[in-house]
Amino acid sequence: MVTRRNVLQLGALAGAAVLLPAERLTGAVAAAASSPAVPAFAVPLPIPPVLRPRWSAGDTDYYEITMREADAEILPGKTTRIWGYQGIFPGPTIRTRTGRHVIVRQRNQLGVDTAVHLHGGNVPAGSDGHPNDPVRPGRSRFYFYPNRQPATTLWYHDHAHHQEHRNTYFGLTALYVVGDEAEDRLRLPSGVYDIPLVIQDRSFNDDGSFRFPLNEGEFAGDITLVNGRPKPFLQVEQRAYRFRLLNGSSLDGFVDLSLDSGQQFVQIGSDGGMLAAPHATSTVPLAPAERADVIVDFSRQPVGAQVVLKNAFTLFGNDPDVMRFDVVRPATGGGRVPAALVPVERLSPTASSRTRQFKLALNLAAERFEINGKVFDPSRVDVRPRLGTTEIWEVTNLDTAFGIPHTFHTHLVRFQVLDRNGRPPGPAESGWKDTVQVNPGETVRIIMRFGDFTGRYTYHCHLMGHSTAGMMAQMEVVR
Ligand code: C2O
Ligand code: CU
Ligand code: CU
Repeated sequence: MVTRRNVLQLGALAGAAVLLPAERLTGAVAAAASSPAVPAFAVPLPIPPVLRPRWSAGDTDYYEITMREADAEILPGKTTRIWGYQGIFPGPTIRTRTGRHVIVRQRNQLGVDTAVHLHGGNVPAGSDGHPNDPVRPGRSRFYFYPNRQPATTLWYHDHAHHQEHRNTYFGLTALYVVGDEAEDRLRLPSGVYDIPLVIQDRSFNDDGSFRFPLNEGEFAGDITLVNGRPKPFLQVEQRAYRFRLLNGSSLDGFVDLSLDSGQQFVQIGSDGGMLAAPHATSTVPLAPAERADVIVDFSRQPVGAQVVLKNAFTLFGNDPDVMRFDVVRPATGGGRVPAALVPVERLSPTASSRTRQFKLALNLAAERFEINGKVFDPSRVDVRPRLGTTEIWEVTNLDTAFGIPHTFHTHLVRFQVLDRNGRPPGPAESGWKDTVQVNPGETVRIIMRFGDFTGRYTYHCHLMGHSTAGMMAQMEVVR
C-alpha cells in the first residue's frame, strides 16, 4: 500500500542535502538520530565468506543458498533478527570468472515471497528475479548466470514485488564478484588484499532489532554499517589494498567517502567493470546500488597510523566516521596500479537506432512515484527494444520542488553515460555503469546495447522506497 505517509516518509525529502530548506533539514536530522549510540572502532571488520560450490563440472559451478532468519550481532552486545542468504548479513559472496556458468538454487525458508536479482548481471529473463517470478515460502528456484561479462563487482539482492525495500533492509543483500584474465594481468592487490566494503544504512530499536519502517521525517537509517557492523576497524599492512565499495543501502543512504589522512583513492572500476585508466580522487560519492573499485595505498603511512574512512553525507544523522584502517605492520608485498587498465569500447551515439525519454517524478496528488506518469505494473510492457540494437535513453528528474534525487538502474544491460545536462561525465562515470544518479532538474543521457537475451526485465529508481512506491517500469527485449 502506498499511503501518503510512506510516500512522504520514503521519498519527499529524500537525499539531496544541499537542496533542502534549512528547517526541513534540521527536522529530518532531529527525527532520524534515534538509534542507540555505537562505540567507535570497537569491532573488527567482518568479511563475508566466499560461498563454495556444492559441485563443479566442466565450466559449471552449482551453489545452494537458503534464505532464512537468524540472529546476528550487529550492534556490539545486542542481537538483531535478520533475513539472510544462508542466514548471514551481508550474505555469502559468490566469486566466479567470465565464461563460467553458475547455477544457484535458492531455497526460501522465510515467511514471505522473495525474488533473487543479480544486480548488473547479463542474465536470461527467467533468472533475473523479476517481481512476477517469486520464490514462495517453503519453495526453491534455480537461477542461471552465464557470466558473459568482464571482471566486475556485482551484487545480488531481493526484488519481491513491492517488498524489495523491506526484504533487503532485513538483510537480503550479498556480493557477486566476476574475475577474468584481463584483470589478472593487471596484478592488482588480490587475495587478502582484495576486500569488499558493503556500506548500508540501518536504524535500530533499543533492543537491537532493525527499525523498519522508519518514522516520519526519516529517509534512511542513521547507522552506517560496513559488512554488517557499525564503525568497524581493519588492521592493514603498509601496502596497497583493493577495496570493492558497494553502497548497498535500501533507502536513501547516499554516501560521499574520503580518507582523513588526506590521501586519495585510485578508482579502477565502476558498476559494470574496469575503467580504461585509473583515476585518483579524494572523494568517492556513491548513490545506493552504485559500486566503485578503488586502490588505497597505505605504504606511506607509518606503522601505528590510523586512517578513518569518512562520509560527508550525514543528512540523516549518520556519524561521519564509517570505519578505521589501522596500519599495524610493514608490507610483505606491494604492487602498483598500471597506467592503463582495460580497453573500454565507447558506444557511439551514431550507432543508436532510437532515443527514448523517461521522466521521473513524485506525483504528490496521487501519492506515488512515477516514470512517464505511470507506476509499475508487471503486466504492462513500457518499452520494446530490439535485440542487437543500440539505444539512447534520456532520463529526466522533474522533482525540483522537493529536491528529490533519483537513481536510474537498468536490468540486463550495462550502459555508458553520454552526458548530464549536456556536459560529459567525469572520470568516475566514464566506464560501464548500471546505476546512475539523476539530480533534481537534470537530464542524464545514457547509451546501451541490447546484446544477449530477449524477454522482460525491469528498470527503476534504485532508492527502494521510490521503486516500491511505483518508480519502476518494464522493458521487453524482442527480436
Ligand atoms: Cu539492484 Cu532492480 O535492482
Ligand atoms: Cu538490477
Ligand atoms: Cu527515486
